Amino acid sequence: MNITFIGTGYVGLVSGVMMSYFGHNVTCLDTNSTKIAQLKSSTLPIYEPELEKYLTPAIKFIDHYRDIPSDTEAIFITVGTPSLPSGQADLSYVFAAADNLIGHLGTSNDSLIVVKSTVPPGTCNKLQSYLAAKNSKLKIATNPEFLREGMAVKDFLNPDRVIVGINNREDLKILEALYKPLIKKNIPFVVSDLITAETIKYASNSFLAAKIAFINEMADLCEIIGADIEKLAYGIGLDHRIGKDFLKAGPGFGGSCFPKDILALATLTKDCKVDGLILNAVITANERRPGNMINKISTALGGSLANKKIAVLGLAFKAGTDDVRSSPAIEIIKLLQERQANIVAYDPIATTDLTGVMIADSPIEACNGADALVIVTEWQEFERLDFEHIHKIMKNRVIIDLRNMLDSRVLAAMGFEYYGVGK
Ligand code: NAD
Ligand code: UGA
Repeated sequence: MNITFIGTGYVGLVSGVMMSYFGHNVTCLDTNSTKIAQLKSSTLPIYEPELEKYLTPAIKFIDHYRDIPSDTEAIFITVGTPSLPSGQADLSYVFAAADNLIGHLGTSNDSLIVVKSTVPPGTCNKLQSYLAAKNSKLKIATNPEFLREGMAVKDFLNPDRVIVGINNREDLKILEALYKPLIKKNIPFVVSDLITAETIKYASNSFLAAKIAFINEMADLCEIIGADIEKLAYGIGLDHRIGKDFLKAGPGFGGSCFPKDILALATLTKDCKVDGLILNAVITANERRPGNMINKISTALGGSLANKKIAVLGLAFKAGTDDVRSSPAIEIIKLLQERQANIVAYDPIATTDLTGVMIADSPIEACNGADALVIVTEWQEFERLDFEHIHKIMKNRVIIDLRNMLDSRVLAAMGFEYYGVGK
């Protein structure tokens, strides 16, 4: 099929590239012409493992709506939906895309718009009325995306399910044709109305965020009563009703989606006068998390952070991505700076232009003369650091491992003071 993606970010680019791999004729559009120029020269503007090997010259990259092929059958909207100050999702990019589509395809074009961006329940219905009011014949379906950054290719090829929200059987046929390779693999293909599909996306992200907030709360309790959070997570996770995933305690959930999506859902419950007690508790718990991590670091350093040199390992919101949007690492660095600490940070892929942060070329450089080493992102390479060497070059041998990724016994035997989370 001939399909177009509007927005070539983490979701649009991965989905476009993988749909091309499924055998469709794909055009990817982005109004960011720098991104498009990079893609035209086969350079990926994002870090996403395995994606490069699926990038082929068969995919057409364009930076203007006028170049959308006239025979496109489905148009995926994959633009951003960040938070507004009110907590609601900013839908201006979605509606701008719709306006541009009407403007360039004409009102008689009846292609299927598939909203893949995460949009609050009710948005697709609003979009449909909006198009109708402009006499556009464009049709609407939704197909929320569940890929994870850093695992996006694997997730796209092997999702737990595909969710589609549709208005009629004709639109469903288009989506079934697009996802034929996954349907053939017996990946569950769940069909619903538009608003239910939109809500499934928000409820999924919010439920996962709640799991993380819960395990972080248990970690705090474990630290006080002397229990071990990792054994606890293993013990409860073996119960298949709970499940073992998303039970890693750490510095709090971040990224471009969990924080904004749970906020948008909580805002919706408020607007609908529904008690959003659980959602709001999760938001509050996660907002407090970086502050709690600062207290942990400060306590490990004797109560004061002023003029302490802190080596922060990791800037990305999790390992496997260059994305620093709502990264706990960035939040923690800002709070450390407020307490007059000096920061030297290292990340193998991500970067930041935060004022006053020195970016080191290696973990060793970051640790040189440091009063504490704080691991915030769980990059695997941090497990394999030369700790014998690090022991020699640090001023104080204090390690605060906010991802519980290092072996506390080995480090203690080397003479480090080691602090994990929930132990
Ligand atoms: P992103 O910021 O990486 O990419 C969005 C792209 O859209 C940008 O390149 C931007 O230039 C482009 N854009 C904005 N307005 C445009 C317009 N009018 N026309 C054409 N291009 C335009 O965003 P993302 O992380 O890919 O997320 C996109 C959506 O998918 C969001 O709603 C997000 O919640 C959802 N989502 C993201 C992920 C993820 O892992 N990042 C996973 C599932 C769902
Ligand atoms: C998340 C969801 O997992 C995807 O299904 C969804 O499509 C995506 O959001 C989205 O809607 O954008 P992602 O943000 O890439 O994917 O990252 P996750 O792997 O889910 O991690 C999110 C945050 O939770 C990270 O900060 C991570 O460190 C944290 N986390 C995750 C924990 O603290 N503990 C865990 O056990 C798991």
